[in-house]
Amino acid sequence: MQDPIQLELSRRDLLISSAATVAVTGVAGSAAAQSAGKQMAYVTKVNFTVNGERRELDVDNRTTLLDALREHLHLTGTKKGCDHGQCGACTVMVDGRRINSCLTLAVMHDGDEVTTIEGLGQPGNLHPMQAAFVKHDGFQCGYCTPGQICSSVAVLEEIKANIPSHVTGDLNSPAQLTAAEVRERMSGNICRCGAYSNILDAISEVGGITA
Ligand code: FES
Ligand code: FES
Repeated sequence: MQDPIQLELSRRDLLISSAATVAVTGVAGSAAAQSAGKQMAYVTKVNFTVNGERRELDVDNRTTLLDALREHLHLTGTKKGCDHGQCGACTVMVDGRRINSCLTLAVMHDGDEVTTIEGLGQPGNLHPMQAAFVKHDGFQCGYCTPGQICSSVAVLEEIKANIPSHVTGDLNSPAQLTAAEVRERMSGNICRCGAYSNILDAISEVGGITA
């Protein structure tokens, strides 16, 4: 027969070990709940208009506008070059102004209107700037081209709106549409293929620069 003292000890051991298990499970459960809560806090709903269409996305707060367009909405016309604001390949228009979409978070654009290269025109119905790039051979590999075209369209609007650039001489007179102005304003859009002179020809034709 088992010693009653030994039996008492094993019963106490069992109780202690059960209590420990409950405590550990409780801690693990609350850690999991906390982690789920944290994950929920990282996600935000964004409503914006992209190329004329209302879109709603649940995005990780750290998602750039560029990644939201490419990875969530599958609008891959906008290109990722440097992902550091240095090449202009990711240029899109937000509320009519060009921006580097790799330098801004999607959650900052709730309620905004975003236009990408797909929204400017499509094969068979090209925007005049897209048609001019084709006509003047304003590209080789084409990787920088969507950004170049979005930028070009916005540049003409900036000049029309009398927004000065670094080379605008007289700030009291309306900004002039000149080749020098276009070169300066397009300087943030890099083309590794060096199609710059043809890009300038395309923009000049659409803008009406004759010299
Ligand atoms: Fe945005 Fe290069 S990818 S500036
Ligand atoms: Fe190739 Fe511009 S056309 S980088």
